[in-house]
Amino acid sequence: MVEWSDTERSTIKSLWEKINIAEIGPQALARVLIVYPWTQRYFGAFGDLSSPTAIVGNPKVAAHGRVVLGALDMAVQNMDDIKNIYTKLSERHSEEFNVDPDNFRLLADCLTIIMATKFGDIFNPEVQATWQKFLAVVVSALGRQYY
Ligand code: HEM
Repeated sequence: MVEWSDTERSTIKSLWEKINIAEIGPQALARVLIVYPWTQRYFGAFGDLSSPTAIVGNPKVAAHGRVVLGALDMAVQNMDDIKNIYTKLSERHSEEFNVDPDNFRLLADCLTIIMATKFGDIFNPEVQATWQKFLAVVVSALGRQYY
């Protein structure tokens, strides 16, 4: 089981309280689709993804970005059980959406970059280290139902 210090717990909680899911979620997903264009193949039903402007302005990307970031709330609220809370979601990404699990890390990296841009000085190296530890646990949990 992953161990969390009190400082790590409070760092994650306090960062999370500052996050506007409706703002950061769409930005993170749009960034993945722009920086790693092969990820667009999973979102064939989302309409126009033909340019960075189209991706950023695409309401389906924005809506799904909110869903993805909203799902991170489960991990923030259950830091001692992250491994198990994503069982169903991991299964769906593997078996229904056929998403290559390497992509989870790409999304985590884009999210970290957005957070650094948004929070500036607050996102110092210690905070970044804790945040990335948290996301690494999420990424690992989402990859657990892949065979
Ligand atoms: C932190 C990482 C991620 C989280 C927490 C997450 C979360 C979610 C959630 C909550 C859903 C909705 C599931 C449902 O309807 O039951 C979903 C759907 C989906 N996710 Fe993820 N996701 C993540 C990363 C990714 C990545 C990196 C990709 C692909 C590059 C991806 C592709 C998809 C697709 C294709 C769907 C179905 C979309 C649809 O047609 O409605 N996800 N994800």
